[in-house]
Amino acid sequence: MNIEILTSEQAETLLEWYVANARDLPWRHTKDPYRIWVSEIMLQQTRVAAVIDRYQSFLSALPDIQSLALCKADRLNKLWEGMGYYSRVRNMQKCAQVLMDQYHGEFPADAALLQKLPGIGPYTAGAIASFAFNLPVSAIDGNVLRVLARLQKDRSDIRLPQTRNAYADKLDHFIEMSAQNSIGFPSVFNQAIMELGALVCLPGNKAECADCPMHVTCPVHASDLCAEIPYRSKNAERRVICRTLLIIKDSTRFLLHRRKNSGLLAGLYEWIGIDAFITPEQAIEEAERMGLVPLRIHRLEDSRHIFTHLEWHMHAFEIQVAQIDRLQLPDCILASRKELKELAIPSAFHTYTDYYDIR
Ligand code: ADE
Repeated sequence: MNIEILTSEQAETLLEWYVANARDLPWRHTKDPYRIWVSEIMLQQTRVAAVIDRYQSFLSALPDIQSLALCKADRLNKLWEGMGYYSRVRNMQKCAQVLMDQYHGEFPADAALLQKLPGIGPYTAGAIASFAFNLPVSAIDGNVLRVLARLQKDRSDIRLPQTRNAYADKLDHFIEMSAQNSIGFPSVFNQAIMELGALVCLPGNKAECADCPMHVTCPVHASDLCAEIPYRSKNAERRVICRTLLIIKDSTRFLLHRRKNSGLLAGLYEWIGIDAFITPEQAIEEAERMGLVPLRIHRLEDSRHIFTHLEWHMHAFEIQVAQIDRLQLPDCILASRKELKELAIPSAFHTYTDYYDIR
């Protein structure tokens, strides 16, 4: 790797390209660190087009740090429904509570302090510090890492923290130097390099080198190595869990279970699930063991859901039971279709929420 991560000419070319090509995104019209933070957490897991809608509705419901800190857990989960990684929104709330308790309800204008807050890692701290406060620090996400690795023709494994850290040190230095000569540099530069990675310097063979303002000085373009650089080692294989869902309903309500407050999909609602494939006879026995009186059973469509580290392969039975008078199952509730629409049901179950039209 070179000592200089970019030349000042390359940075200038990049900024000119950004001025002419940047997308008009709602979070680019604000310097409010709360709004920028919300957008960044959403963008870590969801496509830009989908975030645009969700960003506005989340901020209308929870317009500031205080309202997020005070929001009830079920409402918060509902506002995040369908976006996955619910632990992120729980961490956002913890962070908002720490800001209320320790920082007078405001984000500190300091990247090191930002990084100590719940759920805020080096990337998000860099994004808030530079976009909102224009502090001279880098914000290195996957897009930025790809652009840098290509400009350096560097085959280091970008999955390794040490690769990212080495780039962060060099880019921090470059931004600090450049910021001395150019007002507003950190904010615009970080967004520009991210945008180049998002729109042009795309992964693998999808790179649009002909549209790239840097292609003249890019060694990976010159040697046609976009498919090989950056290099990313493979993730560990995901564990597969076979499950059977029991979608139990009486004439008016569904039986739902609230998941425990920690771990996967913590605190969210689900249909009763068994970690194995079972037969209809076994499913009926399960319902009877719960003190219910099954009347009819039928098999629904199978489905799969992929999480980061595991996959659920699901079978599902709808079990119609006699009217439930008194429910004595721990952490379970009965909910009508209308009430179900108000609960946060993870998108892992979307095949069935779609089937019952309760999304
Ligand atoms: N991806 C992550 N952060 C982003 C941002 N601020 N704008 C566009 N895409 C992004």
